Amino acid sequence: MTHSPAQSPPHPSPHSSPTANQPQGADAVMFITPRPNLTMVRGQGSWLWDDQGKRYLDFVQGWAVNSLGHSPKVLRQALARQAGVLVNASPAFYNNAMLDFAGWLTRQSGLDRVFFANSGAEANEGAVKLARKWGKVHRHGAFEVITTHNSFHGRTLAMMSASGKPGWDKLFEPKVPGFPKVPFNDLDAMAHAITPKTAAILVEPVQGEGGVIVPSPHYLTGLRKLCDEKGVLLMLDEIQTGMGRTGTLFAFQRHGILPDVMTLGKGLGGGFPVAAVLARQPVCLFEAGEQGGTFNGQPLAMAAGLAVAQEIERKRLAERAEKNGRYLQKKLNAMGKTLGLTSVRGQGLLVAVDLPQEKGPQVVAAALQAGLLVNSPRPATLRLMPALTVSRGEIDQMLDMLEQVLKQVL
Ligand SMILES: Cc1ncc(COP(=O)(O)O)c(C=O)c1O
Repeated sequence: MTHSPAQSPPHPSPHSSPTANQPQGADAVMFITPRPNLTMVRGQGSWLWDDQGKRYLDFVQGWAVNSLGHSPKVLRQALARQAGVLVNASPAFYNNAMLDFAGWLTRQSGLDRVFFANSGAEANEGAVKLARKWGKVHRHGAFEVITTHNSFHGRTLAMMSASGKPGWDKLFEPKVPGFPKVPFNDLDAMAHAITPKTAAILVEPVQGEGGVIVPSPHYLTGLRKLCDEKGVLLMLDEIQTGMGRTGTLFAFQRHGILPDVMTLGKGLGGGFPVAAVLARQPVCLFEAGEQGGTFNGQPLAMAAGLAVAQEIERKRLAERAEKNGRYLQKKLNAMGKTLGLTSVRGQGLLVAVDLPQEKGPQVVAAALQAGLLVNSPRPATLRLMPALTVSRGEIDQMLDMLEQVLKQVL
């Protein structure tokens, strides 16, 4: 069936009509999610300001992205410095920031080489391409990548197929094939799912969007052993857990293992878009023309990432995240007793708590009113992912505000 271009869609979008008080210009922005009628204009550290001058204590930080908080000096300076000398050459050439950043990442991770991308989903696509190439070269054409239920790997078509997010199995059909799924934190299920068609497994060390699900301490070491026994690749999606967020620079370092492939994004650029695929040398099998992108290794992104990484190292922010994460969990547990909160969990400064009722969205909305930003990845779960630089005072202030909001909503 063909539609003439002028033909209007069969059903008008429920979101196409303007709502009262929406900011001027909002009509021109494509609807993807309901947004509050707010325009954010300024950020500093743990604080954001809207155009009315109201300030918000930010415990979302762009979904675990602004690792150093809003507009940190080192990031501003690195961007200004780089912009002054070279904004863009071309991914066909090396640039100084790219070389320095790749060196830093390989030294810190123990992996051998880096491909730079622009988003987490793009990095994961690169990892899956590496796995398929590796399967072709070393495993008789194996191409499947086993992932887990409830996982989140991004929003490209292949990554929506790889993700185990409930409801996504029915979206944008047909799916990209080659992503069998097993329950998370279940080594037996993973062992049974590996077949001659399997090239790799791809898991998050802690499921972030799935509600901060921390697996048993032996899960990652068990996966490493399993992959070695069966001859398949272990690929870790550290897009949310990496760069100090979970209390070590990379979450796998807690377990004394090395993955074959790791992807990074989110906190990697401290708010500037940059992502990466890191791999052991034997997996680096791309030939000319098989992988690339207009903006990969873009000098501004490289300078931003390097500045953020060096600051995380210099200020020992992973250790700080570990200590402050414990403090936050202890306080949440204490507060939870009176308010009926359960299952305080997390690693470092990736923390979640379950509510006694499915009122996550109401809590988020009431918190926003009160000047606090928190996130609800599931209806009965709140997730907190402040800047790695957050102070104890700000954590205490957040807890006071959250307690008032919870008393009001629950
Ligand atoms: C674990 C994980 N992988 C991949 C992604 C996708 O990253 P991006 O939104 O930058 O494509 C996310 C984003 O939330 C994530 O948490």
